Amino acid sequence: MALRNIREIGDEILLKKCKEVTQMTDRTRELIADMFDTMYEADGVGLAAPQVGILKRIFVIDTTGEDPHVFINPEILETSGEQCGTEGCLSVPGKRGMVTRPNYVKVKALDENMKEFVLEGEELLARAILHENDHLNGILYTTKVEGELEDVVAEPIEEEK
Ligand code: NI
Repeated sequence: MALRNIREIGDEILLKKCKEVTQMTDRTRELIADMFDTMYEADGVGLAAPQVGILKRIFVIDTTGEDPHVFINPEILETSGEQCGTEGCLSVPGKRGMVTRPNYVKVKALDENMKEFVLEGEELLARAILHENDHLNGILYTTKVEGELEDVVAEPIEEEK
């Protein structure tokens, strides 16, 4: 298991457009494995390659802790509906904000074997796919927040009885 350093807002790499992946290599396989490790360690539901400093069109998502997906060269085919909810990002620690996004998304991408798949997602999965896809185009959710970016207040830890 290898953890990578998560780049934070202010780092200009987060504002750059990522490049297509043309072939799977050992290095890219390792990157994907490290991205999953880094995402789980940080308690995130998604992580995009530029967040660990790599400008490749790759992101990983797991919204339930048991449903890992890797998306390479993703393409949003369809969106519909609307959801308004709180969003956060591992690159913007301690903050959250309200973002309106489509409630449904259909995405086409390549998996870790460079095999094409199509996935449909709703609600949190749709939000995560669109958030991570934005990262590949250098877009942070902070540019889409309605109102103020809020501080996340840590829940007080309950004392054991
Ligand atoms: Ni993010």
